[in-house]
Order: sequence, then C-alpha cells, then structure tokens
Amino acid sequence: MNGDRNILKELIAERIKENGPISFREFMEMALYYPKFGYYEKEVSIGKTGDFVTSPKVGSIFGRTLFKAFREMLEIVESNTLLELGAGDGTLAEDIILKAKEINIELDYIIIEKSEKLRRMIRNKLGKYRVKILKSLEEIGDKISGIIFSNELIDALPVHIVEREKDGLYEIFIDCKDGEFEELKVKLKDKRIISYINEMGIELRDGQRIEVNLDAEKILASIYEILEKGFVVFIDYGYIAEEITAPYRLKGTLRGFKGHRIVDDVLKEPGSIDITSSVNFTALAKLAKEIGYELIGFTNQANFLVDAGILEEIRNEDDIKAVKYLILPNGGMGEVFKVLILAKGIGKVHLSSLKNAPKRPSFNIL
Ligand SMILES: C[S@@+](CC[C@H](N)C(=O)[O-])C[C@H]1O[C@@H](n2cnc3c(N)ncnc32)[C@H](O)[C@@H]1O
Repeated sequence: MNGDRNILKELIAERIKENGPISFREFMEMALYYPKFGYYEKEVSIGKTGDFVTSPKVGSIFGRTLFKAFREMLEIVESNTLLELGAGDGTLAEDIILKAKEINIELDYIIIEKSEKLRRMIRNKLGKYRVKILKSLEEIGDKISGIIFSNELIDALPVHIVEREKDGLYEIFIDCKDGEFEELKVKLKDKRIISYINEMGIELRDGQRIEVNLDAEKILASIYEILEKGFVVFIDYGYIAEEITAPYRLKGTLRGFKGHRIVDDVLKEPGSIDITSSVNFTALAKLAKEIGYELIGFTNQANFLVDAGILEEIRNEDDIKAVKYLILPNGGMGEVFKVLILAKGIGKVHLSSLKNAPKRPSFNIL
C-alpha cells in the first residue's frame, strides 16, 4: 500500500460504523471480492512473480495431465462438457483446451468466475476458443452432463471463524477502533454454524479455532442442481477433520499471502493481500453425501497426477521441474493438495486416476 489510501479499508470501517461489528466471513468476503477494491477484483496476481502459485501456474503439464484424467470421465458420461469454477486468469482452461485439441476433441468449456477483473483476463486469453464465461452458477440456464471442477476454489471462499473458550463457543467478529480493525469474540449463535459443528462432531480444545466454510456447502448444493449426470472434481489444499482440529493446529488454518510471504495480520490491509484457509475434506465429503452425491474417491495430488499419466506427459526440462514441484511431498504440492471426486448418476466406477489412492486412515474421509 505504501501509505496510499486504502478505500476498501474505509468502506469496511463505514459498514461497521453503520451496522456494528461484522462477522469475519463478511470481512473476508469484502476483502477478497468487493467490487473494484477486493483482492480478486484489484490486486490479484497468481504465479511465480505474484502473491502465490497455483498448480496451473507451475506448468502446463498440470492441465495436460488433468485432461487425461477428465477424458476417461467424459467417456463414461458420454459428454464433452467441462465446467470450471473459479478459473483465475484462465491458464488451466487454456492448457486443458489445447491438450484436448491435440487429440481432436472440441470441448464445450464453461467458466464460472466471480471476479470481473479475472473474467476480463479470461476473455483476453480465451477469446479465440469456444468458451462460455459466466459470473455465477445462477447464470447457467440448462442442466449439464459432464464434469464440474475447480482448482483452489474452496480455499478462497470466505469462512466463519469459531473459537472455544472455557465457557463455550464464540464466533470471531470484526470491529473497528480508530480506523484499525480488531477481533471481537461474540457468543456463537448462528444456527447454521452450530449445526455444522454438531453434525461434523467437531471437538475443540480451549483456545482452539476452526474455520467454518458454509459457502462450500452452498456451492455443493448448487452444483448438484445443475448437474444432470457426471463427475465433480475438487482439487485443493487441505486435510481430513482430525488433522484440522489436531492439538498442533490451535490457531486454525487461516492465513494471508503477499508476494509469496505469509501475512500474519490479515486485518491490516484488506484488498492488498490474499486470504485463504485449508479445506476440511471430511466436512466437504460429508456434506456432499448428505446432498446425494456418490463418493467416488479421495487421493492426494501426487497419486492422482501419477495415476493420470503425468510422467508419460513429460516433454522437456521445464516439465521435469514442474512435475517435481507438483508431486513432491515436502516443499512441493504433492501431499498437501488433495483431490476429491464425486458423481451424480454414475454409480460404481473405477477411475485410472484413483488406482493408487492411499488407503491410510488419513484418507478415510467418512
Ligand atoms: C485461489 S484462486 C484460484 C484460481 C485458479 N483456479 C488457479 O488455480 O490458478 C480462486 C479463484 O476462485 C474465484 N472464486 C471465488 N469464489 C468464487 C465463486 N463463488 N464462484 C466463482 N469463482 C469464485 C476467485 O475469483 C479466483 O479466481
């Protein structure tokens, strides 16, 4: 910010002044998505020179391999339709479309991207291909059969934060004092959060925090309505429930990013940093099952990509470097990134990309 005026900070402060403290979820929603001034509407910069790197930005081999996995699923569904949620600047979409073209498959590619700035970047990048670019799932008219997927969407959704104190559960709200934001703990009374915590069987220690991602539930339900028949694939970083609430993770998983560095104080300069939290895959799978999805499988990114044929896809030195980063467990994205595959109207299937999905208890998500 370098001393520049932070208009978003003023807008959030004004809202708090008018309506009283806001939930952390509301703060995060404004900080990331407020028209013109939210992080994803203004500053967003994904890639090696940006604030954070996602798998598509590591190398096109990620998208090329993803398409190999998708091809098998598309054959099962007998469709050529892909719907990508939260497509960033369209890098992954382009890699997938080009890989499909190599084998003469013309995809019907639909993108749902919330940020106006990113939709503009996507239009520039993908204008030459057959791609439909929409702002929200509500804009889709007809039901679709095919694959609905996302890479790092769930981790970018605004979350509620709950903390256990000696006398019960509190929700974190944000107040404003002398133009600066500060946390306020308010006795938890939001019934949706209470029932989420009860249903998930979440037990917190004194002083422990967790993030509650109710927006993920909304998205799961909307996708279920839109999908006539097909697969849903979520790729994201995260853990199973036991790891999320483990004693060593007392402070939850929420963090900020700027220029590849972790920003501890996510309240300080809203709009200028990315804010993100790890996905609770147990919660996501449980919600999916309740909604009616078939649970096809859960694996880590390394196993998924290797099973989908990433090693056979290596064409040059850059690919080798990218593969290392995408699949190595420590310091890479292989272990902490997970892949959850759901389906509707498919029944029991065996996907090649899940051939070596780990059988360890830490992959038992239900
Ligand atoms: C962490 S970025 C990931 C971008 C891209 N998928 C990648 O891997 O590089 C999250 C993306 O999700 C988008 N997003 C967040 N909420 C969304 C929603 N409800 N619907 C559609 N897109 C959303 C953001 O604008 C952003 O482009």
